[in-house]
Formats: sequence, structure tokens, C-alpha cells
Amino acid sequence: MVMSDRRIALIPGDGIGPEITAATLRILEAGGFEAEYEILEAGQPALDKGLPVMPESTIARIAELGIALKGPTTTPIGKGHTSANVALRKALDLFANVRPTRSIPGLKTHFDNVKIDLIIVRENTEDLYAGIEFQPHKDMAQAVKVITRPGCARLFKYAFEMVRKQGRKRITAVHKANIMKLTDGMFLEEFYKAAAENPDIIADDIIVDNCCMQLVVRPEQFDVIVTENLYGDIVSDLCAGLVGGLGLAAGANIGENCAVFEAVHGSAPDIAGKGIANPTALLFTSLMMLRHLGERSIADRIGRATLQVLGEGKVLTGDLGGHATTAEYTQAIIDRLADVG
Ligand SMILES: NC(=O)c1ccc[n+]([C@@H]2O[C@H](COP(=O)([O-])OP(=O)(O)OC[C@H]3O[C@@H](n4cnc5c(N)ncnc54)[C@H](O)[C@@H]3O)[C@@H](O)[C@H]2O)c1
Repeated sequence: MVMSDRRIALIPGDGIGPEITAATLRILEAGGFEAEYEILEAGQPALDKGLPVMPESTIARIAELGIALKGPTTTPIGKGHTSANVALRKALDLFANVRPTRSIPGLKTHFDNVKIDLIIVRENTEDLYAGIEFQPHKDMAQAVKVITRPGCARLFKYAFEMVRKQGRKRITAVHKANIMKLTDGMFLEEFYKAAAENPDIIADDIIVDNCCMQLVVRPEQFDVIVTENLYGDIVSDLCAGLVGGLGLAAGANIGENCAVFEAVHGSAPDIAGKGIANPTALLFTSLMMLRHLGERSIADRIGRATLQVLGEGKVLTGDLGGHATTAEYTQAIIDRLADVG
């Protein structure tokens, strides 16, 4: 690893996490990005040592450094420990989760006849993910959906500014305010307050079920989508599927003073340890991190090399229909870096 003044917290995660993290760091280093990574514990490796799933020391160090790259961490279904991700996002108040979805030229997908280029901005700390669940009776379980005006206001401020900074034109709020009158109703009300303050940006809204249908039928119509935590979680996996799958879907958790860069996908236990995971999602995530750090030209160069390898389709991992191992695919990108200048 390169010696550098720049320090980044690194959570390799579990499942495929360590494999794709190692691949990503190799490509970043080959592309000329210099940083020192501080490996911090979270998820299953922390639990194995008798620590909480997201140890206080990990949260405190990320807060100090202000930046982290995080691999996926497993959360057991229905029982066992709570989500390390939800804990981290809440503890560091990482209120916006930014998830771009872009078609990759040349890559064969069910939607390769259209150009998809959209960004989801997902609220990241409230909604049904606030973690307020209880069981008042053995035959009844309840969860509380939390939407606050300040939570909406800061999300929309960030989202409208992002639209403008990225030269985009339109933002669409995704909700279910026809049924969830108070919670989603408040979300929508705050959205249109923000829209009134940003008259240069086209603002509209759509009900989440119709949004899913529209995304499958005419995905190219969307520009920026802003939505609540649960809908955003689901819709962003749908969007990943449109452009080639979870192995390609990048994401960033953004707070006022801190950012944690983390791919959309999980720990993929079905392929963990086999050396066949696709590292592109975490690589694209790390390129978002580089741009956040002002390293645009390195990010663009690595991005170009990766898109070329993906578009040619000769060296692809199994999730994209190829036979390459993680190591072979990683090497193909590194080799290509020499050609993209
Ligand atoms: N950010 C995170 O840490 C995060 C996000 C989502 C899910 N999870 C956790 O991950 C665990 C597994 O969840 P899941 O199986 O529902 O979702 P998943 O995203 O791990 O996997 C879904 C499918 O996509 C495939 N896949 C995902 N990433 C891939 C990659 N990089 N390369 C190739 N194939 C890939 C998997 O093999 C699997 O078939 C669960 O415990 C879940 O809670 C963590």
C-alpha cells in the first residue's frame, strides 16, 4: 500500500467484501491514487471478536477521518444481530444515499437498447428503517415509520443542489402519499416547498408502484429520483437490474461532515470465497469517493478503462455472463489503464 498523507477508513466487510475490496484497492493503486487505509472492524468480523456489529471505536474513527470505504456486511434475516449499515448511517447521520444507474455501452443487458442515466437519492436515516419495532402481543409485531420535516428539508436541499451541480434538469419524488397520508404526505409537501425554492429545476412526483412499472417500461425518462429509505432501497436494486445487475451498482452515504462509500449490493454469501465476485460496484463506488476527494482525472481514467473492458465483453465475471475470476477481471482493467492515457 502506498504511503500518503491522505487517510481513509476501510471496512472490508464480510462475504465477498474482502475479495472485492482487495481488487478495488489494486486498481486504485494502479491508477495512481495514493492513500493510507485504516482497516476498521464491523459486521461479522467484529462479532467474531465479541464486539458490537458496529463498534463505537469504528464509528468514532470514521467521524474523525470524515471518509470511509466500506465493503458489504451480512445481516441475518428475522433474527440475530441488527444491521451494521443502518447503525453506521444513523450514528454518523449520513442522511443521503446517492446511487447512480448508468447503461454501460456495449454491455449486453435486457435494456441495452435504451440509454439509462439516472441517480437515486435515498433518505438514509428515517422511515421504517428508524429501527422502532416492537411486539405488543405474541401474534402481533409493529414498526413505526418516522418522517420528519427537518429530515426531509435537508435531504431535498442536498438533492436539488446535486441536480444543479451535476447539470441535470429534473427531479422526481417517489412516494406513496395516496395511502400514507401523514408520513409520505409530509415528505411530498416538503419536496414541493424545496421545488418552489429551486424554480430552475423541473420537479414532479410519482407513486412508487407506478414508478417501478415506468422504470421497467421506459427507464430513460428518469433523471434524478428522490425517495424515502425503504422505497429507495428496493427501487435502487431494481435500477441495478436494468443496467446489468448488483455487481455494477455504486453508492455513497453522505452526511454534513462525513461520507461513507459503499456499493448497493450485499455480502453475496452464495458466491463468497470462490474468487468470482464482480468488484465493479465497489470500484465505481470508490471512483465516487475519488471525485469527492477532488481526484477527478484519476477517477475518470480508471472509469474509462473499466467501461472499455465491460463494453468489449471479453473478460467478464459470471454475473455478467462471463467466466473470468475476480483476479482476471481486475488484471484486465489494470492492463487497460496503460491504453486509456
Ligand atoms: N451494504 C451492505 O452491507 C448490504 C447491502 C445489501 C444487503 N446486505 C446483506 O448482504 C447479505 C446478502 O444479501 P442478499 O443475498 O439479499 O443480497 P446480495 O446483494 O448480497 O446478493 C444478491 C444476488 O446478487 C449477487 N451479487 C451481489 N453482489 C455481487 C457481486 N459484486 N458480484 C457478483 N454477484 C453479486 C449475489 O451473488 C446474489 O445472487 C444479507 O445479510 C444482507 O442483509 C448488506
